[in-house]
Amino acid sequence: MSADGVDLKKRRFLTAATSVVGAVGTGFVVYPFLAAWAPSEKAKAAGAPVEADIGKLEPGQMMIAKWRGKPVWIVRRTEQNLKDLPGMVGRLADPNSEIPQQPDYCKNDNRSIKPEYMVAIGICTHLGCSPTYRPEMAPQDLGPNWKGGFFCPCHGSRFDLAGRVYAGVPAPTNLVVPKHYFISDTRILIGEDGGAA
Ligand code: FES
Repeated sequence: MSADGVDLKKRRFLTAATSVVGAVGTGFVVYPFLAAWAPSEKAKAAGAPVEADIGKLEPGQMMIAKWRGKPVWIVRRTEQNLKDLPGMVGRLADPNSEIPQQPDYCKNDNRSIKPEYMVAIGICTHLGCSPTYRPEMAPQDLGPNWKGGFFCPCHGSRFDLAGRVYAGVPAPTNLVVPKHYFISDTRILIGEDGGAA
């Protein structure tokens, strides 16, 4: 136990295996991004929190951690993404996150603790498919107004880069934001509120 009450053994124990997805030019790159430790099978089964190292995540990239068997997306938004988010409001079903799909500390314009980082469970709220990260601007298949976000290939639901669902698509609600907090500038603990305002 450290002086600030943090159980360092537990922290090491909880670190998750993760991967990164990013956009480079017009294509995508996918490459492994492995943390140093993985939780035991017993801890994973119990739904233990997992730690994600975001130190190498570049603006525009998405990293995937696993928590309780679910993919948890961590996206580092670009400055342009943050400028674009307010303009999405008129196209969304629940732009102000009135439906409780997030902890109270993420019920804000960006649905996040730090505007730069989005954290959300990567499971479509329609029938549970995994949407695809589509950070490009105005790709041909998604149209000229697309500002980056997530597209569900199963039935066409769309979400913006705050995980907010578009109006008029099959998915009824925004993506779920799990409990989480920043242990440091480069590490996030997913599955616990500890210390978040
Ligand atoms: S499961 Fe995503 S749109 Fe149906």
